[in-house]
Amino acid sequence: MARVRTVHRCQECGATTPRWQGRCPSCEAWNTLVEEIETPAPAPVLSGPWASSTSEPALPIADVDVNAVHAVPVGVPEVDRVLGGGLVPGAVTLLGGEPGIGKSTLLLQVAAGVAATGRRVLYVTAEESTAQIRARAERLGAVVDDLWVVAETSVPRIAELLDEVDPAVVLVDSVQALVVPELSSAPGSVAQVRECAFRLVTEARSRGAATVLVGHVTKDGALAGPRVLEHVVDTVLAFEGDRHGGLRLLRATKHRFGSTSEVGVFEMGEDGLQAVADPSGRFLLDRRTGVPGSVVAAVLEGRRPVLVEVQALVGDSNLPQPRRTAQGIDGGRLALLLAVLDRRVGLPGLGKVDVHTLAVGGVRLGEPGADLAVALAVASALLDRPVPDDLAVFGEVGLTGEVRRVGRGEERVTEAERLGFTTVLGPAAPARSVTTLAEAIEATLPR
Ligand code: TYD
Ligand code: MG
Repeated sequence: MARVRTVHRCQECGATTPRWQGRCPSCEAWNTLVEEIETPAPAPVLSGPWASSTSEPALPIADVDVNAVHAVPVGVPEVDRVLGGGLVPGAVTLLGGEPGIGKSTLLLQVAAGVAATGRRVLYVTAEESTAQIRARAERLGAVVDDLWVVAETSVPRIAELLDEVDPAVVLVDSVQALVVPELSSAPGSVAQVRECAFRLVTEARSRGAATVLVGHVTKDGALAGPRVLEHVVDTVLAFEGDRHGGLRLLRATKHRFGSTSEVGVFEMGEDGLQAVADPSGRFLLDRRTGVPGSVVAAVLEGRRPVLVEVQALVGDSNLPQPRRTAQGIDGGRLALLLAVLDRRVGLPGLGKVDVHTLAVGGVRLGEPGADLAVALAVASALLDRPVPDDLAVFGEVGLTGEVRRVGRGEERVTEAERLGFTTVLGPAAPARSVTTLAEAIEATLPR
């Protein structure tokens, strides 16, 4: 009798080892290896209906039809903006986000939006009951013709439903709850998630149905288990924000059919997610002026300039290694800025205080243009002096303490001025230009 072969698969990165180990040799995560029965790698997914025939002849590039791929609007303008027009028939989109962030809500609003254009939508709920979906749909005004709902977790059964319902758009919530029954692994394991996604991608491709898969994300930002999924799908959308505050940001981190630079801003309200027309105004709503440790940054969210408040608080530390916390700010970036403040600016006492930093509103500052604001906020907190009320800043800070240029300076200044910030400090005109961090501190935190 043939022995069943097993492998140990990392639930973080998908790598396998023959024997169990405490630490994944590939991604170095601890305690992530789980034994599973070895299955042959899934069949390669044929490229989609935008190149549907596998025996297609080569063409001179000028003869290629540019309209072969075209996005169809989902009818939720902020989503269409992020997708660069809408969903592409036959393409698969992964919508990732932490539990409770609003993925199911967004999905249902997308479902209603698509159905409103007269295209049939199949909403597959693998976690909630259809009654729960109906109740939510009542709140969202999503009880519409052409929106079909089914509670199902089995992928082969979903494939049959696609034949029965023949939808233009398929929405699945969530991929971690799906199963391919012949696999022995548990739902949510890498083996299951990967196989389920592969099969749904194949179904989407062969039918030309635009497909959206919801995926839960762990707090360190990885899609729980299947980072592998990101390579299988065409588009990855990340839905993030402060779960307790109302603001939510939708961004594309991978997009085969367009740019990844647009960001959608929503607010969660009583009747679902509403687009936020004026993100800067919204981010600054609760700002207190004249307080040390608060600086307004003119940053880019995608291509849009947005004003965000950066806060810092310092306090005497009784730890040998003082604490540094960063919310919405990269921890490595903060460490770099603290080192520059210490060594290049000569700000005294940084090594003996705890430093806490925060980007207000659940924003994640992923762009170097926020450096100057973070550094100034820490300096302001440490010196216990506020910066002027009407000040906004931007610019990257380098290791020699220089303030470096970043993209779209002009648009940042325009947005800051629109919101009434009369002094905008940055690396170059039209901002009031500063060449070093020391100079910026001198100018904004005078004795
Ligand atoms: P949900 O979409 O279920 O999040 P996810 O699918 O990402 O886990 O909703 C998240 C929260 O939003 C939930 O706590 C309820 C709240 N909510 C509203 O505040 N207003 C609404 O109209 C809806 C539908 C949900
Ligand atoms: Mg949900």
